[in-house]
Amino acid sequence: MTAEPIPEKLNVLLIGTGGREHALAWRLSQSPHLGKLWVDSSANAGLLEIGSACPEEFSLKRKYYLERWLVQEKIGFVIIGPEGPLSEGMVDALASPDRPIFGPTRAAARLEWDKAYAKSIMRQTSIPTAEGRVCTTLNAALTYVTERDEPCVVKATGLCAGKGVSVCKNKEEAIAAVKRCMEVREFGAAGDAVVIEERLEGQEVSVLALVDGRTITLLDTVQDHKQVGEGDTGPNTGGMGAFCPTPLLNDDDLQAIARDVFVPAIDGLRRQGIEFRGVLFAGLMLTPAGPKVLEFNCRFGDPETQVLMARFQGDLLKTLWLTATGRLDEVEFSFDPRTACCVVVCSEGYPGSSPKGRPIRGLVPIDRIGITGDFPMMFHGATKNEKGGGTVTNGGRVVGVTCLGQGLAEAAKSATASAASIEFNGAFHRRDIGYRVLRQRQNSS
Ligand code: AMP
Ligand code: GLY
Repeated sequence: MTAEPIPEKLNVLLIGTGGREHALAWRLSQSPHLGKLWVDSSANAGLLEIGSACPEEFSLKRKYYLERWLVQEKIGFVIIGPEGPLSEGMVDALASPDRPIFGPTRAAARLEWDKAYAKSIMRQTSIPTAEGRVCTTLNAALTYVTERDEPCVVKATGLCAGKGVSVCKNKEEAIAAVKRCMEVREFGAAGDAVVIEERLEGQEVSVLALVDGRTITLLDTVQDHKQVGEGDTGPNTGGMGAFCPTPLLNDDDLQAIARDVFVPAIDGLRRQGIEFRGVLFAGLMLTPAGPKVLEFNCRFGDPETQVLMARFQGDLLKTLWLTATGRLDEVEFSFDPRTACCVVVCSEGYPGSSPKGRPIRGLVPIDRIGITGDFPMMFHGATKNEKGGGTVTNGGRVVGVTCLGQGLAEAAKSATASAASIEFNGAFHRRDIGYRVLRQRQNSS
């Protein structure tokens, strides 16, 4: 790969259509090195305010056309946001010596697209995780959950947009969850095998790291809220809101997490001849026995990226470029000392299917916010511009509203109030993002 300095101007293609990509695009657009920014042909309305839409869908089925297009538009850098293209091998397919790509190869991304594989790497490298078993037949899975006495968690091994996991209170729920995966096949081939593991208790933290193959740089910590309902009730979602940083982990904890989770994971892959470049994201449960890994993702999280980008200070394009070209040790960036909190405004039905095409009121364009990140920052998720003007809903997680504050209480209060200013028929959001940490503080003061 090139050891050249970052080109003075770089045309960039950002793949992905949601809130994560809107937040990345916003920070990328502040880089002095950015030439033209191209975004997905089906990018949300917010992304289209910042970038130009590709003429065609970016799918590997059209690899040769796409390669020609990348050359024709002099695209010098490709950034891949979502897990789908990574798991399909987009990085492998488009790799070229003079066009770095930010994101792991299909083999490295397997840590995310195959939970059974992730579990085996964790076992081989002694990464702390829940005790469990992989079952590849319905009978084996039913026998295992029936024999277990403790509550368990049933996970489809493949990609399910955060929805393939059932946290079960008892055997009946576990049996039903296994049947949904392996008999009803609610998640298709993603549920061909299941991981069944002990149910852990504690608070969850997302730790994301930039990895260039050798160097690992942890980003500030984030807490997401997976369940759809207030008080962490109801089914799992892709994420209902997040804040950054969390006060639950200090620098020593993070060093221990780097040592016990990230270094062995990257080494475990390397021992199999696989190099990881991109973002490695560990979902951790902070148990009384220490942090344990719930899952690995091989990309930026959503909504984690919305709060990370709200606080990111530096040249994002240069940071990602240096990571992709193996020179993460040259990167310099920092985070705003304030806390960021994001509340995701969803459309009725989510995490099931949601109606589309409902007009949205109250959106503030991101370019009004300026580079200081004064709030509220509205990162679009599932939105679309209507032909006659106006922005409408286009899925479940519609808009993430992020605010900065002096501490979590202030950031969460502003973000929750601002989320209420987004209006459309069927809009809802959680009003308790950050509640566990806030309640813990109240109890200890
Ligand atoms: P995953 O996709 O594996 O991170 O699972 C999605 C969510 O399910 C996590 O963010 C947790 O909220 C929950 N979860 C997963 N595994 C466990 C576990 N072993 N114990 C308790 N909750 C879990
Ligand atoms: N918010 C969790 C994820 O991106 O997977």
